Amino acid sequence: MNIIITGGAGFIGSHVVRLFVNKYPEYKIINLDKLTYAGNLANLKDIEDKPNYKFVKMDICDFDGVYKLMQDEKVDGIIHLAAESHVDRSIKDPFTFAQTNVMGTLSMLQAAKLYWENLPEKFEGKRFYHISTDEVYGALEMTHPEGIKPPFTTKASSGEHHLAYGEKFFTEDLKYQPHSPYSAAKASSDHFVRAFHDTYGLPIIVTNCSNNYGPYQFPEKLIPLFINNIRHRKPLPVYGKGENVRDWLYVEDHARAIDLIFHKGKIAETYNIGGFNEWKNIDIIKVVINTVDRLLGRPEGQDMDLITYVTDRAGHDMRYAIDSSKLQRELGWEPSLQFEEGIEKTVRWYLDNQEWMDNVTSGDYLKYYEDMYAGR
Ligand code: NAD
Ligand code: TYD
Repeated sequence: MNIIITGGAGFIGSHVVRLFVNKYPEYKIINLDKLTYAGNLANLKDIEDKPNYKFVKMDICDFDGVYKLMQDEKVDGIIHLAAESHVDRSIKDPFTFAQTNVMGTLSMLQAAKLYWENLPEKFEGKRFYHISTDEVYGALEMTHPEGIKPPFTTKASSGEHHLAYGEKFFTEDLKYQPHSPYSAAKASSDHFVRAFHDTYGLPIIVTNCSNNYGPYQFPEKLIPLFINNIRHRKPLPVYGKGENVRDWLYVEDHARAIDLIFHKGKIAETYNIGGFNEWKNIDIIKVVINTVDRLLGRPEGQDMDLITYVTDRAGHDMRYAIDSSKLQRELGWEPSLQFEEGIEKTVRWYLDNQEWMDNVTSGDYLKYYEDMYAGR
């Protein structure tokens, strides 16, 4: 197969590209990425010279460019991750989110439809896989702030912690109720993807995943931002009371789910991806502080004094919790890591890769790309 992976230079995309390039030497993997502030080719250093990998710097909104690329590369599959992804940025600049997430997705859809429908085999053997988020479902109520035993157990749930903060979970049949400009734009793109199936028969699949964590995440998101701040003994800005709940999945487990669903998922279906691993922000922050302190040889818990409560995020969703039982039941997917192992691996990676962190926080890498692509 010849596959375009959009957003392959970003956090999750780089793990998906790495998995596909290493696992499928017979495929051609084309990483299509605009290299915004969130895209970083250093995330893919270990595979950039592989013969089955190609990088193309392109904006998904560039319909003509995308259409030509699909023809030139005889593309049979698309895994679409490119997006603006940070809620706080979407609150400040909603237009960019509508442009990339909605219009960019529409441009990918229309190009795939036009290219494939003019082939002799038409949509046969083709696949447009759209990666979405659990945030489109809105927020769940926190009916049990003290935590209750959840109805399911998986490997991703922390052995010690393993609590749910309400009885309800996000299931695939829930109505969309996005609250932030980010989730509204993602919801809109999901609707376009499904509309292209219902209207033109485009072979699509949509998945909605919970919060990811792991190596190569841009340090504006909670976990890498806090690891870096703890290392430098800088304040940790906790929004509101730190009581909001997120459901965390190790990024390589998301990439494995994407591989499985791309190959075995049913056309026109939606699958939720998550590991039943809910945490209040403040609890996860304490785990991160203890882990960083321990790995840096500081007394465990020494850096708790960095916790600084700040004004809450506007429209801050209270609780996300994914029910991924359909994916587990129908395709046999299971997360591979327990949370304790995942967080230890993650903290260790950021501490061992301080150069990567310094580079993306200094902005040098942005200058590097400006120079590299000047005049193209
Ligand atoms: P990210 O911000 O780390 O990476 C996004 C990538 O898309 C970057 O490489 C960027 O350069 C590229 N990009 C942005 N605009 C582009 C454009 N116009 N044209 C081409 N490329 C462009 O994001 P991420 O966290 O890796 O998320 C990837 C996808 O997964 C997104 O669609 C996001 O909604 C979804 N998702 C993320 C999470 C999470 O926890 N991070 C959870 C569920 C779903
Ligand atoms: P984030 O990593 O931005 O992911 P999302 O908003 O998509 O879930 O934030 C995770 C949680 O952490 C969310 O409830 C907001 C909170 N948060 C803070 O308290 N402080 C911070 O500095 C950041 C970035 C997030």
